[in-house]
Amino acid sequence: MQTLVVNLQPSYTIYLAHDLLKTSLIFDHYRHLGHRFVIITDDQLAATSGQSLQDNLATQGLNCALFSFPTGEEHKTRETKQYLEDSLLKQQYGRDTCIIALGGGVVTDIAGFVAATYCRGVPILYIPTTLLAMVDASIGGKTAVNTPYGKNLIGTFSQPKAVFIDTVTLETLPEKEWKNGVVEMIKHALIADEKIFKQLSDKRSQLNPEHPEFLLEMIAASCAIKKFIVEQDEKEAGMRQLLNFGHTIGHAIEILENYKIGHGEAVAIGILVESYISVKKGFLNQEIFEQIEKIFQDYQLPLATCAFQNPEKFKQALILDKKTLANQVQYVLLDGIGKPHMENQRYVMPIPEAILDETISWADNRFGATPLQ
Ligand SMILES: NC(=O)c1ccc[n+]([C@@H]2O[C@H](COP(=O)([O-])OP(=O)(O)OC[C@H]3O[C@@H](n4cnc5c(N)ncnc54)[C@H](O)[C@@H]3O)[C@@H](O)[C@H]2O)c1
Repeated sequence: MQTLVVNLQPSYTIYLAHDLLKTSLIFDHYRHLGHRFVIITDDQLAATSGQSLQDNLATQGLNCALFSFPTGEEHKTRETKQYLEDSLLKQQYGRDTCIIALGGGVVTDIAGFVAATYCRGVPILYIPTTLLAMVDASIGGKTAVNTPYGKNLIGTFSQPKAVFIDTVTLETLPEKEWKNGVVEMIKHALIADEKIFKQLSDKRSQLNPEHPEFLLEMIAASCAIKKFIVEQDEKEAGMRQLLNFGHTIGHAIEILENYKIGHGEAVAIGILVESYISVKKGFLNQEIFEQIEKIFQDYQLPLATCAFQNPEKFKQALILDKKTLANQVQYVLLDGIGKPHMENQRYVMPIPEAILDETISWADNRFGATPLQ
């Protein structure tokens, strides 16, 4: 078993292993966190992973209730939070409750938010079951729900007591969800670690549950990058903005595609476009740009969108980005692989209008697909 300690206030441990959930780790080390335990998951996982976690913990003497809510991003809402809170209140769960979040980023975000405010805060353990939740959503303490005005607008920074990453859970993960996680792992490598980028490139065929050792090594490396960044900047005042690499463009694509494009696909295109801008600015050389392009092709990301067809609409979508400062859209740019560009002590920066115009035209040629409805 590997462990990583996230040094925030309070600090907590990420445990990583194949078949981790079969061990008595939770019972042995975290039993003291509550008198009553509740697993929160989504409806798709409740009957399978939820039930089997509940059974496993019961054989160790830890009886947990199981609560679930409808699957999907559209249910990451205040209404679902209220539904979960009312379900707990109805059964008189008090401050001595410990929540176990089992699922993807939707579950960890919403269960984390419930735990942060239920009875003014109860402890939570995270068991992420998507690759994206393992390397990203379960680290750093951001919890949130979406609103009709935008995603993740209401939430807290609150850290879990521990995170348990079991690669066995990934055996059932659908291809699309798998790609969402891979893109975030590539992003982490691009902003922080050339060696990891090379390993992800060279050993692509081993990044799957059939090769648990390599998969665990890469997940741990990716978690370590996110851990390092959030330790430097817990509340996203500086370095944490690096994690937005590819997301300024990626979010605009998602908006124009009405969220019908996969998040990973949109961010992969976003990373390529922001890398192209880095080339145009003279920070990144063409040969490295081609290596970045190749890794997404090798991982078979579709890399197609019509979002760039109408440049004015694209610019309007860009402005909505949460990093926009005084009407100026901000981008993370690269000097090289593992080397983000820094300017005026900042990791995000605006770009000249002429470069944006040229980039949108290039992106429409490069990624353009059938017209948007
Ligand atoms: N808090 C953060 O720092 C942070 C970071 C990144 C993303 N997020 C949030 O994470 C969310 C996206 O998370 P996600 O990509 O994990 O999506 P998700 O939670 O919606 O899960 C995707 C789908 O996979 C299913 N699933 C989960 N684990 C499975 C498994 N092992 N086998 C089979 N199916 C499984 C789920 O039921 C769901 O249908 C977004 O809401 C995003 O805002 C948060």
